[in-house]
Amino acid sequence: MSTATQNIVVNKVEKSKIDQVDFSNLAFGSIFSDHMLVCNFKNGEWQAPTIEPYAPIQLDPAAKIFHYGQSIFEGMKAYKDEKGSTLLFRPKDNWIRLNKSAERMVIPEIPEAIFMDGLTKLLDVDGDWIPTNEGSSLYIRPFMFASGNGFHASPADEYKFVICTAPSGAYFSGKVKVLIEEKYARAANGGVGYAKAGGNYAAQFYPTQLAIDRGYNQVIWTDDNTHEYIEEAGAMNIFVRIGDTLLTSPTSDRILDGITRKSIIQIAKDAGIEVKERKVTVAEVVAAAKSGDLKEMFGAGTAAVISPIAGFGYKNEDFDLPELENPYAAQLKKTITDIQTNKSEDPYGWRFEV
Ligand code: PLP
Ligand code: COI
Repeated sequence: MSTATQNIVVNKVEKSKIDQVDFSNLAFGSIFSDHMLVCNFKNGEWQAPTIEPYAPIQLDPAAKIFHYGQSIFEGMKAYKDEKGSTLLFRPKDNWIRLNKSAERMVIPEIPEAIFMDGLTKLLDVDGDWIPTNEGSSLYIRPFMFASGNGFHASPADEYKFVICTAPSGAYFSGKVKVLIEEKYARAANGGVGYAKAGGNYAAQFYPTQLAIDRGYNQVIWTDDNTHEYIEEAGAMNIFVRIGDTLLTSPTSDRILDGITRKSIIQIAKDAGIEVKERKVTVAEVVAAAKSGDLKEMFGAGTAAVISPIAGFGYKNEDFDLPELENPYAAQLKKTITDIQTNKSEDPYGWRFEV
């Protein structure tokens, strides 16, 4: 543990809630561990972070988060290996991406030491909350928002950086069916699609609800201009397998640069799978579904891990994906989760022991 980590003040809960948790039956992100890390930005600088009991945060009704939505977040997971070590996956990439989002939303960047030492200390304090059963993990939610007040539509002068954690099971339960969007858009060129800004998710809720009402779980977003190209889903990047080739859209202004996505591209290439990062048209996916060349579609993300897509809708047609013997999705999921949980070697140096 670094000296900086040791210096973080910890105000522990009087009594842990952990006994009330059924670790064998965890939903995603709905119960929260005992503590949270809190760090305030005021007078032009980040103050010393502290670890506090998980509790409501008091805010001024004029705080700019409520009015102008200056809010960004990250998603990470902690795992325990067989020896009981706590492991993270590429955590520095989350820190870098949080600051990329911060720049776009005019939120002050968080120093690496606060992010990494705060996270390490929090996991040290709440280490018992990391589930060990397969498919579960401790989901970590670092976020930053404008706590400074004022109705003037301009950036706030005070912010909070908080990390909360939630022992979690799978993000999706059951088969995933998606609707390829033909009207609404998640992001536009020059916009904030590449940032993990809270508003990006709020903007998805309405079209996603329309899709849910039609029997789908998620929307696959298409480009805002023509709706001819597949971009990503609400909480994950999308891979399509046509024949034996894996396709995924290049990242852009409009698409989140997923850490799972780039890891899967690397793992697949190293496994000898042909991977192409190129624009994927809805027309080619529909044509491949009709001809039988469409073998797989899956989402990739921290929460979703690798989520196979069982079928998709487009306009008024529905298409089912075949059930394969040993799909790429299952192979890639095993490789990435084995690396994450220390069940295999990590040739990439992605695993981070806390
Ligand atoms: N796309 C969106 C919109 C997301 O919210 C996420 C989740 O973080 C992803 C993609 C996948 O990113 P990552 O693999 O870094 O979790
Ligand atoms: C994640 O995968 O960590 C995300 O942030 C997606 C979220 C919307 C659950």
